[in-house]
Amino acid sequence: MRIELSVNGNAIEVDVEPTTMLVDVLRDHVALTGPRVTCGVGLCGTCTVLLDGEPVSSCILMAPLALGKQITTIEGIPRDDEVVSCFDRQHAFQCGFCIPGMVLTAKNMVEHGTATSREQIREGLGGNLCRCGCYTKIVDAIEEAAR
Ligand code: FES
Ligand code: FES
Repeated sequence: MRIELSVNGNAIEVDVEPTTMLVDVLRDHVALTGPRVTCGVGLCGTCTVLLDGEPVSSCILMAPLALGKQITTIEGIPRDDEVVSCFDRQHAFQCGFCIPGMVLTAKNMVEHGTATSREQIREGLGGNLCRCGCYTKIVDAIEEAAR
């Protein structure tokens, strides 16, 4: 089937199977490699994108279900974005593999005012795993962005 999706403010048309996952469309058809597939079953958050501003696991979202919604990947976030700057300032990463998903989840928390304490931030990051164990610095960065 041919569908039109809105990705980072751009309309894109792609031919997909009805069951093609959104992350595969983004990576294979649009060459956006910010969303990464790790677990592939909705548990780790490396494939996180924003759908109308809400974080979703694009590895378990069939692409046609994103029709009519605004999809934002890390590539759609400006380099001078405040949350990104806070991750930079706090050195909140090692390998960086988890960071696109972390930043997108963090942006949602900051914008919705749900990053008011370290406990709340940790809870909000429950769906985003960091194998490098950078959680303390990541929470520092989100705490700074929420001030
Ligand atoms: S790859 Fe999608 S949640 Fe892990
Ligand atoms: S910085 Fe390496 S997985 Fe998080």
